[in-house]
Amino acid sequence: MKKEIAFIFDLDGVIVDTAKYHFLAWRNLANELGFEFTKQNNELLKGVSRVRSLEILLGIGNVELSESQKQEYLIKKNTEYLGYVNQMTADEILPGINDLLDFLDQNNIKYALGSASKNAPLILEKVGLLDRFTALVDGNDVSKAKPDPEVFLIGAQKLQMKPENCIVVEDAIAGVEAANTANMTSIGIGDAKLLGDANYVLANTSEFTPKFLQKILN
Ligand code: BG6
Ligand code: MG
Repeated sequence: MKKEIAFIFDLDGVIVDTAKYHFLAWRNLANELGFEFTKQNNELLKGVSRVRSLEILLGIGNVELSESQKQEYLIKKNTEYLGYVNQMTADEILPGINDLLDFLDQNNIKYALGSASKNAPLILEKVGLLDRFTALVDGNDVSKAKPDPEVFLIGAQKLQMKPENCIVVEDAIAGVEAANTANMTSIGIGDAKLLGDANYVLANTSEFTPKFLQKILN
């Protein structure tokens, strides 16, 4: 197997399924503001920063808020979300991910995190994965959100790898676009119809096996 490659993993929807917790917190906020927020609406927030997510949500409800009200609601949403995150355990690591990381370690293939979430280090700590990554890039490190490639380019720099030797694993359309713009190989996790721009698409993380990896790396 070629060794001059590295992986950059998105967090939410790839390592852990936190989308369900984001959904609960955003839905409660929408209900408080007097409108419904569906699971389908929640798809629009995947890979999107917290601030942008609130803007999209307010657009769905056709609600206008002042800057200070927005700040208040952002804190409220994150406080509720952290309540769920604080109860997370290693059981919430998505299927196949532990085996995959073991395989990468055994083959001396480095991996970094490339996430839009400002809560990424806490989530990794909760599920016991914080020390496994060579580098972390999260929502606190970037000035431009996905689909801008910044998060992945910083990841490649931290790994001391050329972008073309990095493989990004992503569940969001914006994330696949960011990886492609960064000139990296993209692996989409989810619906092939939505993630058609990715170099490879797997329906879920349990399909991300060492066998699949060997196939794409050789
Ligand atoms: C992304 C999620 O990983 O992180 C988005 O897919 C979320 O849904 C974004 O809005 C920001 O997360 P946080 O934890 O900083 O609010
Ligand atoms: Mg994601």
